Amino acid sequence: MAGISESLGRIIDIWIKPFEVVSILEHGNGLINSTYKIETKGEENPDFILQKINHNIFKDVDGLQDNIIMVTDHIRNGLIRDGVKDIDRRVLTLHYLNLENNYKGKDESRLSWYKDEEGGCWRIFKYIPNTRSYDKMTSPAMAELAGRAFGNFHKQLSDFDGESLCEVIPGFHNTPMRIENLRKRVAADPVGRLKDVKAEVEFLLSRAGEYSKIVEMGDAGLIPKRVVHQDTKFNNVLLDMEDNILCVIDLDTVMPGYICYDVGDAIRTGANKGLEDDENLDNVEFDADIYNGFIKGFTAETHDMLTPAEADTLAFGPRLLTYEQAVRFLDDYIDGDNYYKCRKNYPQHNLVRARAQIKLLQSMEKHYDAV
Ligand SMILES: Nc1ncnc2c1ncn2[C@@H]1O[C@H](COP(=O)(O)OP(=O)(O)O)[C@@H](O)[C@H]1O
Ligand SMILES: [Mg+2]
Repeated sequence: MAGISESLGRIIDIWIKPFEVVSILEHGNGLINSTYKIETKGEENPDFILQKINHNIFKDVDGLQDNIIMVTDHIRNGLIRDGVKDIDRRVLTLHYLNLENNYKGKDESRLSWYKDEEGGCWRIFKYIPNTRSYDKMTSPAMAELAGRAFGNFHKQLSDFDGESLCEVIPGFHNTPMRIENLRKRVAADPVGRLKDVKAEVEFLLSRAGEYSKIVEMGDAGLIPKRVVHQDTKFNNVLLDMEDNILCVIDLDTVMPGYICYDVGDAIRTGANKGLEDDENLDNVEFDADIYNGFIKGFTAETHDMLTPAEADTLAFGPRLLTYEQAVRFLDDYIDGDNYYKCRKNYPQHNLVRARAQIKLLQSMEKHYDAV
């Protein structure tokens, strides 16, 4: 079994007791974590999802797991209150590891994750059977489904205090900080690339004030800090085989933030007619139909909870996240590609990405008044 040592295998045996492992196979095509499905003996017995948490990105694994526990417990309690029947399909369920006190002298008795001998961090969820997810929103109807799924997630957490969560990636969407980083990088020009990107730098920095406004509104208390998912790709929505929404998964980046970030991320990644690293900028264009579908679903679920000021920020979210991503790609290009992985023998990769985000942003700005 790729990536799973013998000693981890023994822990997994204890972890899923009284059920017995039949196989552990790689599952799905997630980019961040390594995911496996643990198949157990007996048709009627539950299977499990085993995940290796990406410890490079998420330094505070305890904080991350505590966030997931708080958020899923809150959603589960709401489902119980509402008398929902198939609760174990409507929210992720973390499966705890109960270690005996005499096991290797450890005295923790209930762990939400486990560190193996090589420092790998592992967790187990209950497997939700008969489900599927889609990588792309390919029609306005699909986008509406995605919007409803993430809108419902927000509705379920509308009475949860976002401030109680740990900020797993500090400053994740702190746009003024990202802008400041770019300014410093421009001043330092560490690898002499600034001369090639003067127009892009100028374009982005001339908009610095406008794109700092969400953080400023938050700091001034004009919009509430909520629980935000921060990875609102359609493939993080689990559907049943008839495409009914079951639940939102991939909760690693759940943290305090503003609701327009979740609309923004879904649209930046899902309503682009081109690729994130499209060399042909003619392909890159904002897809207003996908946006409208998503917003329709999202607001159908959230209209009761949104404050008027917040409702006004939703359409700005996609622009904000696209702007921020352009700033980050350009910053990394000027820095000599230290953050984002670039394709081999492709020194322009981050510049191509930055230009594609700028093109997408221009297209969004053009459509803004219409949407
Ligand atoms: N509890 C679960 N039940 C069924 N399938 C799951 C479950 N958790 C994850 N998956 C599947 O595994 C894939 C990857 O999981 P995810 O948590 O999204 O990891 P990543 O961060 O790598 O995207 C998902 O797209 C989904 O298909
Ligand atoms: Mg995922």
